[in-house]
Amino acid sequence: MNEAGAAIAASVARRARTADPCSFVIFGASGDLTQRLLIPALYNLAVDGLLPDAFCIIGVARTPRSHEGFRADLEKGLRAFAKRDIDDAVAAKLFACVCYFQGEAEDPKTYERLRQELERLEQARGTKGNRLFYLATPPVAFAPISIRLAQSGLARESNGAWRRIIIEKPFGTDLASARTLNHQLLEVLDEHQIYRIDHYLGKETVQNILVLRFANGLFEPIWNRDHIDHVQITVTEALTVEHRGKFYDSTGALRDMVPNHLFQLLSLVAMEPPARFEANAVRAGKAELLDATQVENEAEALRNGVRAQYTAGSIANRAVSDYRKAQDVRPDSTTETYVALKLMIDNWRWAGVPFYLRTGKALRAQNTEVAIKFKQAPFAMFRATPIDRLAQNFLILGIQPDECISLQFNAKVPGPTITLSGVGMTFKYEDYFQVAPSTGYETLIYDCMIGDAILFQRADGIEAGWSVVQPFIDAWRHAGAQGLATYPAGSEGPKEADELLARDGRRWRPIG
Ligand code: BG6
Repeated sequence: MNEAGAAIAASVARRARTADPCSFVIFGASGDLTQRLLIPALYNLAVDGLLPDAFCIIGVARTPRSHEGFRADLEKGLRAFAKRDIDDAVAAKLFACVCYFQGEAEDPKTYERLRQELERLEQARGTKGNRLFYLATPPVAFAPISIRLAQSGLARESNGAWRRIIIEKPFGTDLASARTLNHQLLEVLDEHQIYRIDHYLGKETVQNILVLRFANGLFEPIWNRDHIDHVQITVTEALTVEHRGKFYDSTGALRDMVPNHLFQLLSLVAMEPPARFEANAVRAGKAELLDATQVENEAEALRNGVRAQYTAGSIANRAVSDYRKAQDVRPDSTTETYVALKLMIDNWRWAGVPFYLRTGKALRAQNTEVAIKFKQAPFAMFRATPIDRLAQNFLILGIQPDECISLQFNAKVPGPTITLSGVGMTFKYEDYFQVAPSTGYETLIYDCMIGDAILFQRADGIEAGWSVVQPFIDAWRHAGAQGLATYPAGSEGPKEADELLARDGRRWRPIG
């Protein structure tokens, strides 16, 4: 670690202001998300001194249980999932803020009782009436709970108190359902109250994409069709479908990853510079970029999309069976566990530059990166190294597991002849800044508590994303099993994905 970098990171952390006093109400509080991510994230915020003293957490769920039982479960979860050592005093202070509230989300009486409980806690804790409702529920409950919160007045902003709702993913399952959900929410809430989460925006290196582009004079002048040959966006996982068969088999890799996580990366990498680093300007720029990324029709989608399913194989010496044999997966499932897409962006900056996206499960390695390939030098001046043997100029934004920025270029091999070799320069976050382990939810929760929506999605961005993938959804639904490729678990993906790039005389970077 670099001492100057660590000192800068520490001073930035010290200067962050404490979040606003508020009640943090979690619907679906007995689920996995609360234990694994929300409580560890709140704990990390508490350790960093970013939680207000006037604070309470109310877990809402169906099953009757005591406050103590609920706290004990959360604490067990924290100790199991926290990536930092637990400071008992901080944990005790956090759990002292936790209450359990039993209620059926469909029952209007729940909201009346919840109001009484909230008003009591607001008095006792001095939270100033600010309320953050976190919907950690199955997606079918997003609209009904939001509507009830609004109708009961619980989400009405008054007397300077804010009321905000965080909606988890998936936000819709296609364009029509996303539009309906937006419509239902916007009928009862104002856009500024709705925080649609995408946990990729909580990742430091994802946030850094805009900083890299717009805080340096170096990159932006060459960030366009004149200098960039193509861009590869890769999000591969070595994990299989695991115990999530029920959700995954009705979702598939396209819906699960592309309109949200991959499109966040795509829009940050390719958007125009916003006028200000402010929520509406940034989100408008992202939506505009996706609007320019339209796929004409199903035929074009079939030509430019590859979908595949994993078959038996092995990952890190562990045998993996066919996707179709996984728990809760239909034996004749045609759900894709891998997709690769070629997208074109119809605007002045990117006309003619392909963006290749791929994501999949049960692959050889976990790797999330954006690789920007610059155009080749125009002619071969160095006779010992013909132009086709020059190393390719890639700028790689590594997101996970390695958080880094790396530049690959040609250098002279020491010696009497002019012989070239590909070399690389890499900046690793952990070498420079002291990075405390995090869940990725800290920034998002904190930002919502201070009212900064820059890292959350707006209705237009969500719909623009779904409208890009809709032709693929339709084309693949109509094609059924036809055209569904396969790849062995533990491989780099299907050969059809290689062919997608080979057609353009290009190839994927190795995935790990
Ligand atoms: C989730 C998907 O949104 O993102 C999962 O539902 C996927 O299927 C996960 O595994 C990937 O997130 P990360 O942060 O591990 O890249």
